[in-house]
Amino acid sequence: MNNEIKRIAVNTGGGDAPGLNAVIRAVVMSAIKKGWEVIGIRDGYNGLYLPQMYPKGDGLIKLGFEDVVDITSTGGTILGTTNRGNPFRYPMKDASGNVVEVDRSEELVEAFRRNNIDALVAIGGDGSLTMANQLAQKGIRVIGVPKTIDNDLDKTNITFGFDTAVSFATECIDRLHSTAKAHKRIIVVEVMGRNAGWIALNSGISGSADVILIPEIPYDITIVSDHLKSVFTEDHDYAIIVVAEGALPKGGTVSVIEREAGKAERLGGAAERVAAELQALSKKEVRTAILGHLLRGGSPTTFDRLLSLRFGAAAIRGLEQGFSNVMVALNPPTVNYVPLEDAINKMKSVNLKSDTMLTARDLGICFGD
Ligand code: F6P
Repeated sequence: MNNEIKRIAVNTGGGDAPGLNAVIRAVVMSAIKKGWEVIGIRDGYNGLYLPQMYPKGDGLIKLGFEDVVDITSTGGTILGTTNRGNPFRYPMKDASGNVVEVDRSEELVEAFRRNNIDALVAIGGDGSLTMANQLAQKGIRVIGVPKTIDNDLDKTNITFGFDTAVSFATECIDRLHSTAKAHKRIIVVEVMGRNAGWIALNSGISGSADVILIPEIPYDITIVSDHLKSVFTEDHDYAIIVVAEGALPKGGTVSVIEREAGKAERLGGAAERVAAELQALSKKEVRTAILGHLLRGGSPTTFDRLLSLRFGAAAIRGLEQGFSNVMVALNPPTVNYVPLEDAINKMKSVNLKSDTMLTARDLGICFGD
């Protein structure tokens, strides 16, 4: 089967996550060892099917050993990324100036053929892997690599980028303890995670938060307030509350800062809402800290580097073995291959009966329920 492959492409789509470059390194190193040529596609699929966006002709980049020699430790992606311009739902203006979505996927498939690309390693989250699945239906040989700091992709124990995000969030929470304590304040820390509470839960427990609010458990602010009053003592008269950006009050909705047709909602404002509601119920000063994109930046942790390298190398072994339309997945202790369609369109939420949740409850952490 590997004789059929001479040239592969690799791309990164959606929000960046620490570890993308480590995956690219493993893909390039492993593929070149097999005698395959590797082409990097810039900015999702744009570099391949929208050459007019690259007047210098660098939408596609031939990747060699020297291009990936020192990138394992770096954040971001050397290929660039985008979460706009899905080729299956490409936003364009019609004759009356209205934005309509057009399916341009045939142009993309034709560009794969024109450039003699035999297979694709698509590194991305749910949106990118859904596109990868759609491309596979159109005859493109593709292996997906699961990326997201949110850890909300199904069929893999963990996605790369998550450990780095949680580690940094924990470090920030650690730092907030001392200032909260000095001023006897309540600090509400907001972390990313979209509609899943993984980052909030793991960093909140590790950072000794008093309260953790996650999308999986709609909260009641009076329960939060009563809990804080019950734990405040002379020695412990401050509090840290970790709020997932997708957290919502019982009977309420998530807090959104931007909603536009054809695009994912931009979440934001969850911490401000909790802080305002709490301030009305508490004599203590309440402050917020929004960690946001800080969680996506920086150098990947050792765990994420290793996972990313394992995923990238496994993608190439999978192509060699003839796999297509699958995603590499961590199913401890091994990395295996799962059908892409099983992994997409199904969010992995926090399991409320998990040992981690039980641990949090045993530690006395309040979830507002
Ligand atoms: O999915 C990763 C993520 O960082 C989410 O946690 C967050 O809601 C979203 O992306 C932010 O996207 P953007 O960078 O487009 O604002």
